[in-house]
Amino acid sequence: MDTLDTLRNELLEAVQSAPDADTLEAVRVTALGKKGRITDLMKTLGHMTPEERRSFGQAINAVKDEVAALLESRKAAFAEAALEARLTSEQVDITLPVRPETSGTLHPISQTWDEVVAIFGQMGFSVAEGPDIEDDFHNFTALNFPPGHPAREMHDTFFLSEQEDGTRNLLRTHTSPVQIRTMLAQKPPIRVIIPGRTYRCDSDMTHTPMFHQIEGLVIDKAVHMGHLKGCLKEFVEAYFELPDVPVRFRPSFFPFTEPSAEVDIGCSRKGGELKIGEGNDWLEILGCGMVHPNVLKACGLDPEEYQGFAFGMGLERIAMLKYGIPDLRTFFESDARWLKHYGFAPHDVPSLTGGLTR
Ligand code: DAH
Repeated sequence: MDTLDTLRNELLEAVQSAPDADTLEAVRVTALGKKGRITDLMKTLGHMTPEERRSFGQAINAVKDEVAALLESRKAAFAEAALEARLTSEQVDITLPVRPETSGTLHPISQTWDEVVAIFGQMGFSVAEGPDIEDDFHNFTALNFPPGHPAREMHDTFFLSEQEDGTRNLLRTHTSPVQIRTMLAQKPPIRVIIPGRTYRCDSDMTHTPMFHQIEGLVIDKAVHMGHLKGCLKEFVEAYFELPDVPVRFRPSFFPFTEPSAEVDIGCSRKGGELKIGEGNDWLEILGCGMVHPNVLKACGLDPEEYQGFAFGMGLERIAMLKYGIPDLRTFFESDARWLKHYGFAPHDVPSLTGGLTR
């Protein structure tokens, strides 16, 4: 029993002091492997008397179990330490700079759209939208373009093929039909801003078959031209981010407004460079007027009770003026270099408080 005791102490000591998992495994083989020392000792049982075998066998088994249990717990400890070490060494360092990734940009049209909506949103306007495919009633007739009226010719209209009832739908030539849809759908007071795509069969340096407009409509009791002028002056200054921009109303004609005006803003063109808000020159930026009584009537509103004003402008045009983009056609070429140059950071949502452009 002395040798068994010595063996037990020796093995437990070896297991306990093994510095790593590999040494521990080597100790296990020496102790419990096929040719291990405990296994060897087991083999001696065959030469013993049954009584000796019983008591010695039990003693060896007890040592074997004890050594095996310690081996297991040491093995588990090494595994846990290894995992702990991995968790420490493989930690994600969130202070490292991010990997370089190319991010996209917002198209100047989207940016300008958002800016205009932010400005009018602040003044209490809500956004209204309508279909790109319109009918004659909403695009023309209800807007006081009677059939055969020469003003229809000014809109180079894309017509769709004739329907069974003989009428033809069209691609809307302006955002004004959404005025009609809004007045037919909701009661005054109305204050809406209407951004959208518009289409005209026209293509040259300054015209593209598809372009964008943004339209405004205000209908209430006792609305007058002073409101229109104040509203547009505030818009122009907010949009161009300038404290004071001279605004001039020039008489004009639109079938759906009476009186009608074109709005010019003060600018300088000295040395061939356009500067808005200074100098003695004028630059046209939009059309507007008081909603024509015929338009109100077409929408079931009594012109004696309600008045209103409307305005409309080209989004590309005001984007070109603000951001110095010289050629309209480049807006639609999808050239990634152009987008990178003129585009906007996608997370900088324009707002009057946070800044329109950052
Ligand atoms: N619809 C006009 C156009 O496309 C623009 C316009 C002018 C809209 C005057 C208006 C307005 O609402 O009052 O040329």
